Amino acid sequence: MTSAALRSRAWKLLELVTTPLLPSDYLDLVSPLRAGADLRGRIEAVHPETPDAATIVIRPGRGWRGHRAGQYIRIGIDVDGVRLWRAYSVTSPANRADGRITITVKAIPDGKVSNHLVRDAKPGTVIQLDQACGDFVLPETKPAKVLYLTAGSGITPAMGMLRDAELDDVVMVHSAPRKEDVIFRNDLHDLVADKKLRLVELHTDTDGMLDVARLHELVPDWAERETWACGPAGLLDAAEEHWTAHGLADSLHTERFRPSVVVAGDGGEVTFSTTGTTVEADGATPLLDVGEEAGVLMPSGCRMGICFGCVTPLKAGAVRDLRTGEITEAEPGVLIQTCVSAAAGPCDLER
Ligand SMILES: Cc1cc2nc3c(=O)[nH]c(=O)nc-3n(C[C@H](O)[C@H](O)[C@H](O)COP(=O)(O)OP(=O)(O)OC[C@H]3O[C@@H](n4cnc5c(N)ncnc54)[C@H](O)[C@@H]3O)c2cc1C
Ligand code: FES
Repeated sequence: MTSAALRSRAWKLLELVTTPLLPSDYLDLVSPLRAGADLRGRIEAVHPETPDAATIVIRPGRGWRGHRAGQYIRIGIDVDGVRLWRAYSVTSPANRADGRITITVKAIPDGKVSNHLVRDAKPGTVIQLDQACGDFVLPETKPAKVLYLTAGSGITPAMGMLRDAELDDVVMVHSAPRKEDVIFRNDLHDLVADKKLRLVELHTDTDGMLDVARLHELVPDWAERETWACGPAGLLDAAEEHWTAHGLADSLHTERFRPSVVVAGDGGEVTFSTTGTTVEADGATPLLDVGEEAGVLMPSGCRMGICFGCVTPLKAGAVRDLRTGEITEAEPGVLIQTCVSAAAGPCDLER
């Protein structure tokens, strides 16, 4: 018998004696970052950035395939005994010498995962990881002039890009309520001192919100710049309108942390028939949130309609896509994205 066949037989025997846990489950306990395991990472440090933001340093397991600056990862972490998945932009440069990656998280009011990561995450914690994805990245041929238009936690993918590639001419217009809320403020000012960045820092509590239509007053050559924008929906909507009005839509790249919800209607009674749970839901709340609130284990990922990590069979009734208003009615094999769908009357989900 070959050594591979012997190994396979030994593995099968081990599976028999370790049932109901598989040997891989035991290995996960002692060597969670080993090659061949589901991709995991270990939190190695947590560095506060502002009163409500922190950078989490993660050592990814052997299967990690690396990232391009500006991309995001999905992480799965247990909060109060429930595994929750969220997306975070990578803030470290690609190919960091020590092989570690960072994400930078801003705690939002009532946010389950963001508050946990910023306030309670401990070095040594093992989390689940997905490979990096997303197309909010610089092209292979670097543009001559770049503008980063960011606000709040939207600075994170831009910081990943700033740390990754040295560009000849970069301007950043960044907004945060106050000086002390500016994530990476010291790093940004170091880049300015090294003449690697021109920074326009706006403190909206005192300066007011950025009026995108008057961007030319801050960055006279804005129209010549390839632009990457990330921040709240209001900023991104205004930027898209402004760039489109000037015929420059192709030179604006945006990254949204939340879906643009445009439509709501009447809700209904939602049944999660596998768990036997029934709750009343309005027509604006994503069924993912409805299920989680009711204690139903719901798969999820980006929570904004891009990763399809939340798809669930719709067994009966109808749901509304919150981005378009489109109604989907149950029929055999129909799957819905629970993160961007709300009840449109009574409905039944296979969870
Ligand atoms: C591609 C992508 C990249 C991202 N990168 C980052 C990043 O680098 N840093 C970072 O801090 N976050 C980032 N996010 C947002 C992040 O995934 C979570 O949405 C955020 O941390 C909130 O999760 P939570 O569990 O704390 O909130 P939840 O418990 O899910 O929500 C709590 C409440 O806050 C609302 N809410 C949810 N998300 C947001 C939000 N982003 N802003 C305001 N209100 C919200 C919910 O509707 C709910 O009412 C990114 C999201 C995407 C899709
Ligand atoms: S969680 Fe990503 S599409 Fe729904």
